[in-house]
Amino acid sequence: MRVCIVYDSRHGTTEKMTEAIKEAIEKYANVEVRRVSEVATLKGCELIIVGTPIYYERPLKSILEFLERHSTELEKKKAAIFIVCFAVVFGSLARWHIQNHYIKPLMERIPGEIIGTLVLRGGIGNVSEDEIEKAKRWAIGLLDF
Ligand SMILES: Cc1cc2nc3c(=O)[nH]c(=O)nc-3n(C[C@H](O)[C@H](O)[C@H](O)COP(=O)(O)O)c2cc1C
Repeated sequence: MRVCIVYDSRHGTTEKMTEAIKEAIEKYANVEVRRVSEVATLKGCELIIVGTPIYYERPLKSILEFLERHSTELEKKKAAIFIVCFAVVFGSLARWHIQNHYIKPLMERIPGEIIGTLVLRGGIGNVSEDEIEKAKRWAIGLLDF
């Protein structure tokens, strides 16, 4: 299976999560990682994993615009989303907010099948080992063995 991970990051946290995901699944799949600004086409990708941090209550514009630009290509592919944010520390109090303001704008722009979503806690460039492990477990679970 060919997996393409498309991400953006301002302070490096989402980038570190992306690297961890790549490391976890590259034993089982052909994995390509691209920063969103470097992606011209999704040709050949069977599963697209999209990663974005949250800034000012929304996913990065670069990622939202990427999904809009590649909408037709995404129709025929499987996709999964992970976000990195701070609000997750508020637990169940923030669940509705995260779903509606952070995840939904991404899901709305993906016309294909979404096989997973994940919310990770991120700082400014620093990541906890727990979150890294969570990201790795999630990514392995996405693969169709
Ligand atoms: C200026 C600024 C605004 C942020 N806004 C939000 C926000 O609205 N909601 C949230 O949950 N986290 C917010 N965060 C936390 C970031 O999503 C978090 O630090 C993330 O790990 C940053 O990812 P990056 O290092 O890949 O850029 C904000 C962080 C900064 C520095």
